[in-house]
Amino acid sequence: MFEFDIKSVVTSVEKASFTWRSPSNIALVKYWGKSDPQIPKNASISFTLKNSYSETKVDFLKVADQNSVSFDFFFEGSKKDEFKPKIAKFFERILPYCPYLNQYHLTISSKNSFPHSSGIASSASSMSALALCIMSLEKAITPEMQSAFFNQKASFLARLGSGSASRSIEGPLVVWGNHDGIPGSSDVFGVPFNFEVHSNFKEYCDTILLVDKGVKQVSSTVGHQLMFNHPFAEERFKQANNNLSKLSEILQNGDFKSFISIVESEALTLHAMMMTSDPYFILMKPNTLEIINKIWSYREENNSKICFTLDAGANVHVLYPKFEEEKVLQFIEDKLSKHCQKNHYICDEVGQGAQLVS
Ligand code: DP6
Repeated sequence: MFEFDIKSVVTSVEKASFTWRSPSNIALVKYWGKSDPQIPKNASISFTLKNSYSETKVDFLKVADQNSVSFDFFFEGSKKDEFKPKIAKFFERILPYCPYLNQYHLTISSKNSFPHSSGIASSASSMSALALCIMSLEKAITPEMQSAFFNQKASFLARLGSGSASRSIEGPLVVWGNHDGIPGSSDVFGVPFNFEVHSNFKEYCDTILLVDKGVKQVSSTVGHQLMFNHPFAEERFKQANNNLSKLSEILQNGDFKSFISIVESEALTLHAMMMTSDPYFILMKPNTLEIINKIWSYREENNSKICFTLDAGANVHVLYPKFEEEKVLQFIEDKLSKHCQKNHYICDEVGQGAQLVS
């Protein structure tokens, strides 16, 4: 592993501007439970998405040395001071690793490809995009930087903003969290799944059914805390690591049936954890269950490989191999879209990771 902390840096870069597009990701084995500083209680793995991304531009202007990072934040063209505390906390956390930031004023402008308040978590895409802009500055200051270091440190910084953001730098499959079966895996950054993936899982679609576009009932910060003193926590963390071992084999041998059973079980277990915590929550809505039941019937009747997963909310991610796309999209339009708010769903697929725009 590389050393990420730096003492102090003399920078001759007076001004710079970088724009990164960074995608969201969907976990197959879920991260739910962490300790300080953003250390996951179990390893997780996700598909990196393609069409759901944040695009973030940061203008860096050299100023006199300060004690904290000076910045302004704009979201979709308007200044948004209400987001500043979360970003300020992120800067505080990463400052020991990026001390040069104290010498700049940052103007951050961000937007998402998916509609605001669609219920899609934007912390993974937005925090990874911001981390990448900072790494671009670091690379401008230290041009000899290798790309492996760049990606690893970007993931390391992104994780300090939001755990799942560590899995958004690269693609198509990323593991975050130390796991015996995944060489190079780490609790402090995500690594690409480094085994040969079977062709069955090379091209996968994720259609996100927007069942509830409201503000999250349980923020992820509160959610992860529910795993402290949770009666089933230790078993859950073990189960997740076992599921990752199994999924690693499955991704290599192409076994659709086992893939479906682990992915759906992971989603339901995440929700089971929330239903059995103190306080307890039910984040699924009646339409979530309607959709799940229809997916199961469709799979049975059509010998399909379709399955679902869930985040910490009511929306349903419908996963299926690309070769089923036409038929499944018809099924979604005909039978599932009516269970979505305003019939709204987002068509996404597995992608290769973040891109530098300029
Ligand atoms: C249910 O990454 O949003 O989506 O680290 O507190 O920012 P923080 O949490 P966050 O948690 C994501 C939880 C999840 C499962 C997953 O993506 O693995």
